[in-house]
Amino acid sequence: MFETIISAPPDPILGITEAFKKDERSDKINLSVGVYKDEKGDTPILKSVKAAEERLVASSNSKGYKPIEGDPAYGKFVREMLFGQGHALVSDGRASTCHTPGGTGALRLAADFLWSKAAAKRIWMSDPTWVNHPAIFSAVGFEVKNYGYFSAATSSLDMKALISSLSQVAAGDVVLLHACCHNPSGVDPTLAQWQEIGTLLKSRGAIPLVDFAYQGFGTGLDEDAAGLRVLTEMFDEVLICSSFSKNFGLYNERTGALTVTAKTKDIQEAVLSQLKVCARINYSNPPAHGGSIVSTILASADLRALWVAELQEMRDRIWAMRKAFVAGLKQAGAQQDFSFIERQSGMFSFSGLNKEQVERLKKDYGIYIVGSGRINVAGMTLSNMDQLCKAIVSVL
Ligand code: LMR
Repeated sequence: MFETIISAPPDPILGITEAFKKDERSDKINLSVGVYKDEKGDTPILKSVKAAEERLVASSNSKGYKPIEGDPAYGKFVREMLFGQGHALVSDGRASTCHTPGGTGALRLAADFLWSKAAAKRIWMSDPTWVNHPAIFSAVGFEVKNYGYFSAATSSLDMKALISSLSQVAAGDVVLLHACCHNPSGVDPTLAQWQEIGTLLKSRGAIPLVDFAYQGFGTGLDEDAAGLRVLTEMFDEVLICSSFSKNFGLYNERTGALTVTAKTKDIQEAVLSQLKVCARINYSNPPAHGGSIVSTILASADLRALWVAELQEMRDRIWAMRKAFVAGLKQAGAQQDFSFIERQSGMFSFSGLNKEQVERLKKDYGIYIVGSGRINVAGMTLSNMDQLCKAIVSVL
């Protein structure tokens, strides 16, 4: 049966790191996958995470299964991060959370739930979006439509195109939005634009699904949730996929969550029961360690303060790299205006480099970025900036 199977192409993001590892050049640079690096080019375990792990090693005494939806404490912390402490959605019990294997697990659980329990059949995604988004929803059976988002001419949000495409959304369609630090463009709506998008989606009868993989990597934990909070004010029903890969640096612990809001506590309880059915037949129950780290940090005043400071440090370094990158390109002789990179936010920048330029960067300079021209700014360091900028300018 397997003789007819043809090889799949490498993954458009993770496959690049596979190729990078095989490259023998000592000055190679990997700016493909969204992983934060410090000034030395390392992805260290956060101090707050290490301390939480030490506490967990000392206190844990069982590897028994977690509940299907994960620990209640974890769910509560996730909801407080999303909506703010003391928010009515938290205190009224109108939102439920499932601890999932990473943000990708949350997206797949959302897709399964929407498809099999809420009769949703069509989803709209920004053009461009994270490459795994269409793959996850198509795998479940969804029809995937795109809405206009990014203007290559201005390297900013194309609000006109966005409104024009989302005006075609039908009642019951799901609309996927990036809460902040849009992946891959780094371009986010303003608060006024969130209002406009929300009002339009509401008038169309759409269901918002918010991918929140970078909370705290844009402006701050609460600031980055502002767009989501506009939507939860307007809609009873919103789905949110959280990832703690980036903000807690828990990439390989696969730590995420799906949170679903509902009109009443009773509806929320029914929703949760069905989410559990979907989770049970998919991965049964969540991996414990990453979630326990997050809960331990958020439950302890000293570890929480340390984590908030470490998150700020990562955010500040990314902004500093954006500045240095723009200045470095100019210094290397770039004729184009790259100042838009300083207006984008989060880990990524849509550089505007085309496929051929991306290929030349790899072949001639050992610099690896995603085929769409997406560059991981959080992977740059001051020590490789000069080399990077010179190489980019030479392929422009
Ligand atoms: C990325 O976009 O690079 C990250 O979200 C990692 C991934 O899984 O693709």
